[in-house]
Amino acid sequence: MKVLVTGAAGRLGAEIVRCLQGTPAECLGVDREDFDVRDGDAVHRAVAAFAPDVIVHCAAYTDTQRAETEPEKCAEVNGLGTLNIVRAALKNRAKLVYISDAAVFSGEGAEPWEAEDRPNARTVYGMSKGQGEEVIRSLMSRYFIIRTSWLYGGAEDDFVQQLARRTAEKGELTVAAGETAAPTWVVPLAQLVCGMLTTERYGVYHAACQGWCTRADVARMTAEMVRGRAVIKADRSHPVNSRLSCVSLERAGFAPLPHWEDALTRYLAENL
Ligand SMILES: NC(=O)c1ccc[n+]([C@@H]2O[C@H](COP(=O)([O-])OP(=O)(O)OC[C@H]3O[C@@H](n4cnc5c(N)ncnc54)[C@H](OP(=O)(O)O)[C@@H]3O)[C@@H](O)[C@H]2O)c1
Repeated sequence: MKVLVTGAAGRLGAEIVRCLQGTPAECLGVDREDFDVRDGDAVHRAVAAFAPDVIVHCAAYTDTQRAETEPEKCAEVNGLGTLNIVRAALKNRAKLVYISDAAVFSGEGAEPWEAEDRPNARTVYGMSKGQGEEVIRSLMSRYFIIRTSWLYGGAEDDFVQQLARRTAEKGELTVAAGETAAPTWVVPLAQLVCGMLTTERYGVYHAACQGWCTRADVARMTAEMVRGRAVIKADRSHPVNSRLSCVSLERAGFAPLPHWEDALTRYLAENL
């Protein structure tokens, strides 16, 4: 089986490539220096040359704040870029795995979002990820859409490491606590993706670590682990509900991801 991974220099893409290297699959990781997903001809040439059985599409415009000031660019990368990947997948008869985000939902209420709920994003980034999903749903049948939240781990600096550094300083630290979600370690998520892509159990899935918390909870736990001395204050303004119900995953026979506290404990023990 040949698997092409886009966004392979990014947080999740790099981990998926690492994970696939331990399997019989032949894997090719590509990123911006190989082609820009907005360039349909370049996408077509690169995909045709490798002739993958599966494309895992991780490349995305992910700067959620900057997206609000450059909506066209965000839509081009996440919407048009995904259309180009879909066309290439169809031409090569490849399955597609698309990594999406809890941000496709409005953030209202307190109930966890089900995989069947209708996307209704309020942010530029969330709308663009929803456009990517829509293109896939309307044109393909052999796809996995996997929505997740608050990724950490992988090669680069992440929000957990940033919190660890900040909590190691003395004094008081105010952390945004309006949004509730599940911090998700890329290692178990990549393992799930690598298993899922070998199956024919297509559909829309939510795959985040179990349980929910705020970033202030993550900061508190991180501070404990690094023996940080900062007093954590939670800023509860701007409530956003990014809770994902992952029952569709288990219903389809896939193992759930670990609880966020267990995953974070292991990550901190291994990485700090
Ligand atoms: N991070 C999260 O908390 C989170 C949560 C839920 C879902 N997701 C989704 O999960 C996926 C992976 O996220 P991530 O955190 O691993 O992202 P990431 O670290 O930002 O990696 C994305 C990669 O895509 C590349 N890229 C961006 N624009 C491109 C273009 N026009 N053509 C080709 N490559 C391009 C980036 O290159 P440059 O660095 O050069 O721009 C980067 O290497 C994304 O689809 C994201 O929407 C992320």
